[in-house]
Amino acid sequence: MSLPPSLELVRTVADLRAKVSGWGQAGLRTALVPTMGALHDGHLTLVRRGRELADRVVATVFVNPTQFGPNEDFSRYPRDEAGDAAKLVSAGCDLLFAPTVDVMYPAGFATSIDVGPVTTRWEGAFRPGHFQGVATVVTKLLLQAGADVACFGEKDYQQLCTIRQLVRDLDIPVQIEGVPTVREADGLALSSRNAYLSSEQRQVAAQLNRIMRDVIARLHGGEAVAPVLSAGTQALLDAGFTAVDYLALVDALTLEPLPEPAPGRLICTARLGGVRLLDNMAV
Ligand code: PAF
Repeated sequence: MSLPPSLELVRTVADLRAKVSGWGQAGLRTALVPTMGALHDGHLTLVRRGRELADRVVATVFVNPTQFGPNEDFSRYPRDEAGDAAKLVSAGCDLLFAPTVDVMYPAGFATSIDVGPVTTRWEGAFRPGHFQGVATVVTKLLLQAGADVACFGEKDYQQLCTIRQLVRDLDIPVQIEGVPTVREADGLALSSRNAYLSSEQRQVAAQLNRIMRDVIARLHGGEAVAPVLSAGTQALLDAGFTAVDYLALVDALTLEPLPEPAPGRLICTARLGGVRLLDNMAV
């Protein structure tokens, strides 16, 4: 791959460690931005936030096989390393770590990280094993890089809670920075999987954010949680979503359901055909 001039590419853990520890010895702070590539402005916002928090930014691009279920889109997940590299340069990234599957999971690899209750509901219930895959690869990336801070999007809110928990539990010396979701003009949260939507589905997709805002307005107005959530679910189905996996008001840290209106997080996953759209907002 030919790289933009100011971006360095490393593919081994030894090279990654050498770069980051060299910066540390020179008194520079490093931010890590883990991604699976197919970069959009949401990822580049993470890189820009990393730049604000540190002197150097390392992005990782690795489509992690262990977080995909057997019927999920691992093999068709969009891959464009050269395009990603050009975008990373434009956002001010210094180093790209793009390991192969063999580097991340060499023969004999056997460990899996289970972060416990925060992973079992919601996405965890619909995607068995997903958060073990995420937790394992993120733990590896954090330990491999040894960065001072790591940036993750709030868009995958349960993932962010899982990562905060594992960093606390395993005493990994890194600051976790949650970065607000970047949205299209009509409110749709940016996601690499939006590319799978037909133009008709794309119109429907914009209703997710609008309906979640209506739900939040009704909760702020003091209406009871359960009827507001059922009305929101029905509104999503009426708008054209094919299924609603969950629409829930949850505690912002534990993700346990909140039966009464209270500050927390409204989380939702709704389906359009084979595409699952996730969103969440503070309440
Ligand atoms: O959010 C993602 O892109 C992935 O789940 C992550 C954190 C890079 C781990 O593979």
